[in-house]
Amino acid sequence: MTAPASASLSTPYRIGILTSGGDCPGLNAVIRGTVCAAETRGWEVLGFSDGYEGLLSPVRYRPLTVDNTHGITALGGTILGTTNKGRFVAKVGLGDKALIPKEIISEARETIEGLGISALVCLGGDGSLTTAEQLFENGIPTIGVPKTIDNDISATAMTFGFDSAVECVTEALDRLHTTARSHKRVMILEVMGRHAGWIALHGGIAGGADMILIPEIPFSYEKICREIVHRVGNGHETTMIVVAEGAMPKEGTVSAKGGHKGEVRLGGIGQQVCDEIERRTGRETRTMVLGHLQRGGAPTTLDRILGTRFGVGAVKLIEEKKFGHMVSYINDQIGSVSIPEAVGQLKTVPPGGQMVDAARSIGITFGD
Ligand code: F6P
Repeated sequence: MTAPASASLSTPYRIGILTSGGDCPGLNAVIRGTVCAAETRGWEVLGFSDGYEGLLSPVRYRPLTVDNTHGITALGGTILGTTNKGRFVAKVGLGDKALIPKEIISEARETIEGLGISALVCLGGDGSLTTAEQLFENGIPTIGVPKTIDNDISATAMTFGFDSAVECVTEALDRLHTTARSHKRVMILEVMGRHAGWIALHGGIAGGADMILIPEIPFSYEKICREIVHRVGNGHETTMIVVAEGAMPKEGTVSAKGGHKGEVRLGGIGQQVCDEIERRTGRETRTMVLGHLQRGGAPTTLDRILGTRFGVGAVKLIEEKKFGHMVSYINDQIGSVSIPEAVGQLKTVPPGGQMVDAARSIGITFGD
């Protein structure tokens, strides 16, 4: 796709950048990568505050330079602020599209045009990239950068933030092992990931889980409990279980705590599994919800590098005028795909794929 007619493509460019949706480690690395690559080309960068909301009155932005972004690659969160609610919500629930009101899009376009911005780099997950897609369809030249700890965006092998979240899960399991073993308990760790089990699967394998429950493989309480009792019979009085927040029993639904604007807030499945295990087996069981620790803190080395490469990739896409595209990472190469191609379908764990097979091969069970 090429630039919409309304885009001003004179050089030097002035470009905008914003971070939208839930924060994650690596956002600042992308910002830094974008700013450095842009300044090298003689372009200016304006950073908008609090996601797309910064485009609306009162408009909030600040110039970003190589000098004033020094050292941010190592920082978690986002120096620009973000929101996963507000007036630009374009996707709800498991993928239902919501149309952004016309007057909101018009106001955003006026801001972009009024500031002489030639391209808007939008860092976001599935929902925020759908917003970028709608803005592009309405004449705003957007470039997407896939961001989420959940790793559930199609057309990219990995998103930054995922590795940092998995690292957090692994470390938590390492710590939980010693206390669980001392008390001969069943220990449950509930992790994030929304409707995808990537964090649970990778963290569970790395941290030595005995059982991993993910949304893609609905579980049976009977099977889980039989396995725990079987393990005790074999001398393993401790069972470590990682449960993804979106996991559900075969005959049940996801466990939710309500939400905003139709977006369901997942959580609570860890405690449900805990209660059922205690009731059915009598084994002492504890649950721990890792929560936002997975999103906080400094990015791992891998996320810093991937974020930086994505930032540079976004600048190259602007240079090529590939608006309406998202940077992607496949086979260690930074490439691009059209945003609709990336957000059309969530990338979930294939139940028959190599990762699940590897887990099963080392004795990890899935409660199925
Ligand atoms: O999408 C990232 C994510 O951390 C999910 O894993 C989790 O379900 C959700 O965001 C939590 O959102 P909030 O910060 O609004 O509680």
